[in-house]
Parts: sequence; structure tokens; C-alpha cells
Amino acid sequence: MRLPSLLLLALAVVGLGSLAPTRPQVIAHRGASWDAPEHTFAAWDLALESGADWIEQDLQLTRDGLLVVFHDDSLDRVARGPVADCSGTIRSKTRAQLSRCDVGTWFNAKFPPRAKPEFAAQRIPTLDEVLARYRRRAKFYIELKAPEEAPGMEQALLEALTRHGLAADSTARARVIVQSFSAASLQRFAALAPGYTLVQLLGDRLDEATLDADLARIAIYAQGIGPSRRHVNRTLVERAHANSLVVHPYTVNDEAEMRQLLSLGVDGMFTDRPAQLRRLLPY
Ligand code: G3P
Ligand code: CA
Repeated sequence: MRLPSLLLLALAVVGLGSLAPTRPQVIAHRGASWDAPEHTFAAWDLALESGADWIEQDLQLTRDGLLVVFHDDSLDRVARGPVADCSGTIRSKTRAQLSRCDVGTWFNAKFPPRAKPEFAAQRIPTLDEVLARYRRRAKFYIELKAPEEAPGMEQALLEALTRHGLAADSTARARVIVQSFSAASLQRFAALAPGYTLVQLLGDRLDEATLDADLARIAIYAQGIGPSRRHVNRTLVERAHANSLVVHPYTVNDEAEMRQLLSLGVDGMFTDRPAQLRRLLPY
């Protein structure tokens, strides 16, 4: 056993587990999506085998009101199957239509060295399927994706979390982080479901002239920020921490860049390569 592990064990034994030091968090972006097709059971299984702390899901609402896990507005990049069911916008399709699409064939065609025949059987999962499969062994980092285009997404998320025992109490809620580029959506979710950790994603670089005011405004409703990796510097990390916000940049796949961001003091990062990030961390 390595020394840090012994230290953590000792803290737990003497009842000081809550004082155990935290290390930067490994957030598997769409699963271990470098080595397996994004947002599939194959990718999340691999992420957990790789030691990821969190597995990410992007939410979309189907035409018949079900939450599914899928990144793009359009099916065209990663879905394959009958054209009427598996092309065009995901919001224009029913769950039954989406169940006819596979989301692994594109990966095998694009990345032959990482291809596996079984990936072609991967389907678009519902959020219910993901929560049911992983609720006992994973923590979920869920994005309300383009919520302005999907009224009711926040309520649907809360109902799904409730169905799977992830809304019952503070311990259950601590196993979920909710993220969005939409401040309004995060605030709607917080009003429906207090007690979850919320992360405000940032598409643009925050202006240094208004940095503290911007971070203080975010800190009213969120506990963290998710900036693009390209926008992270020491000032941002320090000012975020001063405003009680954790910093989780996206999406970092280069080892040198992982090391550099860790040296700046980030609290974790989204990566398609969780095994690589995990290897850089002390315990
Ligand atoms: O949610 C963090 C990061 O995933 C945001 O970018 O486009 O991959 O959802 P995207
Ligand atoms: Ca995302």
C-alpha cells in the first residue's frame, strides 16, 4: 500500500474521514471516450475501470419527453441506422426511433486502431438506464444540454434522480453534480431541487476587469466553474477559489497540459482519457 493510502486509512479508522485531503477529480468526459464510443455503456464501464471519480452525461429530451444521453443536437455524426430514425435532430425523434440507432459503428470507422466489434451494438441510452446500471458504483456529472430548446428538462432530471434514489438525502445528492452553460437552467434546477452541487460551464474567457464580480455572481447559485482548458490561468483559479468555487476545466487529453493545469491548482478536469489523468495523481 502506498503511503497516501495508509494515511487515508488511518484517518478513516480514527473517524476523521471527513478531514481526509481531497485530490483533483477525474471526470470522464462522455465516459472514457478516447478508447470507446462516447456516451455508451462501453465508455462508462471503461472509465470506472480506469479509476474515474465521475462519469459525465449530456442530456437531450426526445420528442416524447424522455431524457436520453447524447451530446449533439443532430444524430448525424455518431448515429447509424434507418435514415428516418437516425438522422436529423434528436429532439424530433421518439425514444422508439432512437432505439434503432447504433452509436458505435462511426467510432470503429473513424478510429480503426481502437475499434472493437462489440462497439457496433452500443445504443443511445436513456438516463434511466444509465442511473440504473451505475447508481451503486458511480458518481454522475450531468449536463443540462441546450435546455432552452428543451423546456422541462430540469424537472425531468429531478424525477429521474428521484426514481433512482439520488434525491433522497444529502448523501445521495452528493453523488451528483449538475452542470450547464445556462445559468438560468442551473437556477431553475436549484429552485426545484436544492442541495445539489452545481457547476457553471463557461464558453468564453472571463474578462479580468470584471472577474471577481462575475465569479461572485456565479457563486450565488453554483459551487464551481467549468471553463475551457484554453481559458485557465493562475489568476482564474485563485479568484475562483477566493469566491468558494471549484475549477473543473474541459476537455484535457494531453498529458503535459494535464500536468500544467494541476500545477495551477485546478480541482479536477474533464478528460476523454481518465486512465492517463489518474496515473498523474498521487492516490
Ligand atoms: O460539460 C463539459 C464539457 O463537456 C462541455 O463541452 O461540448 O463536450 O459538452 P461539451
Ligand atoms: Ca458536456
